[in-house]
Amino acid sequence: DLTVPLAILAAYLLGSVPFAVISSRLFGLADPRSYGSGNPGATNVLRSGNKAAAIFTLIGDAAKGWLAVFLAKAAAFEPTALGLVMLAVFFGHLFPVFLKFRGGKGVATAAGVLLALDPLIGLCTLGVWLCIALGLRYSSLAALCAAVAAPLLSVWLRGPDAVSIAVGIMAAALIGKHWHNLQRLLAGSEPRIGAKKK
Ligand code: G3P
Repeated sequence: DLTVPLAILAAYLLGSVPFAVISSRLFGLADPRSYGSGNPGATNVLRSGNKAAAIFTLIGDAAKGWLAVFLAKAAAFEPTALGLVMLAVFFGHLFPVFLKFRGGKGVATAAGVLLALDPLIGLCTLGVWLCIALGLRYSSLAALCAAVAAPLLSVWLRGPDAVSIAVGIMAAALIGKHWHNLQRLLAGSEPRIGAKKK
């Protein structure tokens, strides 16, 4: 039965769709890989000054994560297969075949994955992100804190199953992708949300 391998491939291809680049083209903006942090993600698209383009990026990148997990759950995938679909869509965003494997940092896509997986885990993780983002106005710090919270919430609410392991792997990869943000945060040079950066 090829259902699960094909679902994993489809999830990877779906995750590879780069909404930051698509949105920037639709709105007539420069490629987000050419300014700011260079990251193809909603936070960096916001540095263009175009809020609608940033929101479109955020919703698109979250929706692909949500859709992959929603379909895997609708197909009643076992925890191992579900965990692999989660990883496939997430790593599709991080290492997209359509951008020579240089993708984003995974925050919006992870949010979509978690919201489809379990609204309680998703909303609690989103709550952590919002508290830091609204309180301190650092998108990256909010993502790092949410990445620490998500696997803990998953183990607490579901137990240490294959899905929680997948959440842990996603969190570790997300933190790894924020290495330069972490260095800038520690150096006090990380720009706050919405600040334009050349
Ligand atoms: O969504 C990614 C965010 O956490 C950081 O983005 O562009 O500031 O590196 P950026």
